[in-house]
Amino acid sequence: MEKIAYEILEREEPVVLAENLGFGKYFTDHIFVMDYSPAKGWHDAKIMPLRNLSLHPATTFIHYGQTIFEGLKAYYGENGDILLFRPEKNYQRLNNSARRLCMPEVDIDFMVEATKELVRIDKDWVPRNNSDTLYVRPFMVGSDPFLGVRPSADYKMFVMLSPVGAYYPEGFKPVKILIQDDYVRAVRKGLGECKTAANYAASMLGAEIARKQGYTQVLWLDAVELKYIEEVGTMNIFIQIGDEVITPKLTGGILPGITRLSVIDILRDWGMTVTERQISIDEFMAEYDKGNVKEVFGSGTAAVISSVGELKYKDRTLQVSGGEIGPLAQKLFDHLTAIQRGKVEDKFGWTLKVEIPVNA
Ligand code: COI
Repeated sequence: MEKIAYEILEREEPVVLAENLGFGKYFTDHIFVMDYSPAKGWHDAKIMPLRNLSLHPATTFIHYGQTIFEGLKAYYGENGDILLFRPEKNYQRLNNSARRLCMPEVDIDFMVEATKELVRIDKDWVPRNNSDTLYVRPFMVGSDPFLGVRPSADYKMFVMLSPVGAYYPEGFKPVKILIQDDYVRAVRKGLGECKTAANYAASMLGAEIARKQGYTQVLWLDAVELKYIEEVGTMNIFIQIGDEVITPKLTGGILPGITRLSVIDILRDWGMTVTERQISIDEFMAEYDKGNVKEVFGSGTAAVISSVGELKYKDRTLQVSGGEIGPLAQKLFDHLTAIQRGKVEDKFGWTLKVEIPVNA
């Protein structure tokens, strides 16, 4: 296995975290970097001080978007341990994205170890309060300086860290969502199930239109028929109709969320019926009109569990859970974050401890 080289910053001042971290505004002292070439495979893994990149202007990912990423979090647990949540799932998904974009796969065990090592080195940046966390952003880019359209030969893999608070400005308050049918985010057999820049770029115009109308996010419909509910872009969606919790099945146009997967397991463990199936916007509206839609909530690493209080579709505005946080969303948020922070038994074995040497 690849060895990691170290260049560690000597800090003169202790780390002081901002009071209102927001999301993605602050970065820790170090970054993990590794290079790939066809001749050497992955090589030159290092952890070094975070600094600007120097890139040739023809670097291929800038032009043609061969770039994939992940998002996971590190938490301070009850007894002072730092915990990562299901990191191997993120690197599995990174490899799935890599295959679709003709990029090289990484060694999952090595990347999990490298992530632990980076978090260990920047441990003072892990927030100690109950609401903030350290967001971990692994990403890979094609790095050839070449303007022809073909997969890059060389690549760079990075992991960077950012202490974060709530993703949405509302905090844990219910979000308002616009159901968008003027634009689509992604298409099955396209890049929909990959965590790649193009899907986020495609979502921005719809999201800006939503924002100008006072909505936090967009709920996207499928790109072929504009009929089925897909996802929110920053989170997967769950709809409780009567006693059944429905989440759109993974048709290829939806990101297979790790929080989504965990929510399904937790709900089933609680004895609830969870169905992964296609749900059309017409079915949703009909159930709403019959008074059967009990709750709508989203799940994501950044968003955690986010209750949806209001949805707008064409000229109709629908209130869910009286515009308040739904009880199921609240219970899930409490339970999932308790698992992530080691406050309740981790019966699924989802958390991974970052061992900190005693005298570190
Ligand atoms: C995440 O939840 O990690 C995401 O990737 C959402 C967003 C910040 C891109």
